[in-house]
Amino acid sequence: MPHTASSKKRIAVIPGDGIGKEVIPEAVKVLEAVTAAAGKEVALTEFDWGADRYLRDGVTLPGDAVEVFHRDFDAILLGAMGDPRVPSNVHAADILLGLRFKLDLYVNQRPCILFDKRFTPLRDRNEKDVNFVVLRENTEGLYVGIGGFFKKGTVDEIATQEDLNTRKGVERIIRYAFELARKRGLKRVCMSDKSNALAFGHDLWQRVFKLVRAEYPEIEASHQYIDNLLMQMVRDPSQFEVIVTSNLFGDIASDLGAQLAGGLGLAPSGNIHPAQVSLFEPVHGSAPNIAGKKIANPMGAILTVGMMLDYLGWTAESKAVDTAVRAALREGKVSAELGGALGTREVGDWITNEISKDGVAHA
Ligand code: NAD
Ligand code: IPM
Ligand code: MN
Repeated sequence: MPHTASSKKRIAVIPGDGIGKEVIPEAVKVLEAVTAAAGKEVALTEFDWGADRYLRDGVTLPGDAVEVFHRDFDAILLGAMGDPRVPSNVHAADILLGLRFKLDLYVNQRPCILFDKRFTPLRDRNEKDVNFVVLRENTEGLYVGIGGFFKKGTVDEIATQEDLNTRKGVERIIRYAFELARKRGLKRVCMSDKSNALAFGHDLWQRVFKLVRAEYPEIEASHQYIDNLLMQMVRDPSQFEVIVTSNLFGDIASDLGAQLAGGLGLAPSGNIHPAQVSLFEPVHGSAPNIAGKKIANPMGAILTVGMMLDYLGWTAESKAVDTAVRAALREGKVSAELGGALGTREVGDWITNEISKDGVAHA
């Protein structure tokens, strides 16, 4: 049971490709340090899924993976999937999107929180201005893979890609947004779609939003079209607390939000089905352009561990991770992405030591 705060937690670890293999060891080091400091137990099991494995023996997501995760694990920690040697991206689709769909992880929760104003590219903005969460629908939309080619490779070629929106799927992510706002004492939920152009699928989003918002009268519910939303995120991010949107729009908005909060390498995320085994991963990808150079920022992966701990009910441990990352940013113990000189391992070591030194403060 993921939410039993006291029991030993069983974590599946999938480093994946590229810098996933560099940042996940740092995140695991932090996970081990924070749980040891708190006298908590974790059992880690590593899975070698990714491009290397796929190129070696054709395995992407093994057939029993979903059953095994449901039965034997409380959470999954993943690095990144994507490799230039696999241009079709088939392994990423099978493993990452496959797990999102098959484990029904309908919430992709991507906080955009500026920890230190020095790191936002926005002029005259500070920590108070960039503090929101993007909730991305994670099991449908344009990601379902419905479509195909006709007359492929000819001048008459037709390619289709369906945007699937279900009443159940739209309702549960919108409801999650309002519930999260209520739980956190937040006042504002903004739903974003493109219903002015996508007159069927996003009309459904409009109608469901109206129904659900009526159940949360204490929360100010607003709507912005996605093009306006992205502009508003840059113009005045302080207007947002909770943003809820569809799969593709959430993918795009969360990279922008990550940069407003300091950088893609700092951004954590959770692929969540409340009270079921859920998957946590940094927002960034495998970054082939810097893979192997040992300069990737591991903070996104480390903050992802923080999100995972919170999800598992280990709140004090989650806060300790957050506090240690904030300290590293304050002290300039950062990698090249943030203008620092430290490598991936050095940043991980510094944060690990900070946690071991300070321990975990229980409320
Ligand atoms: P990317 O996120 O890998 O990289 C985008 C840019 O951000 C690059 O310049 C990269 O160097 C930089 N960057 C990313 N993470 C960083 C970090 N931790 N520290 C410092 N700099 C960092 O996106 P991309 O280049 O569009 O995609 C590369 C591959 O990753 C593709 O195969 C893509 O499909 C895949 N991808 C996977 C995931 C995932 O597994 N969740 C997410 C995004 C992209
Ligand atoms: C992400 C990534 C994935 C997505 C890719 C790798 C399929 O960009 O997790 O944000 O689009 O969801
Ligand atoms: Mn993305």
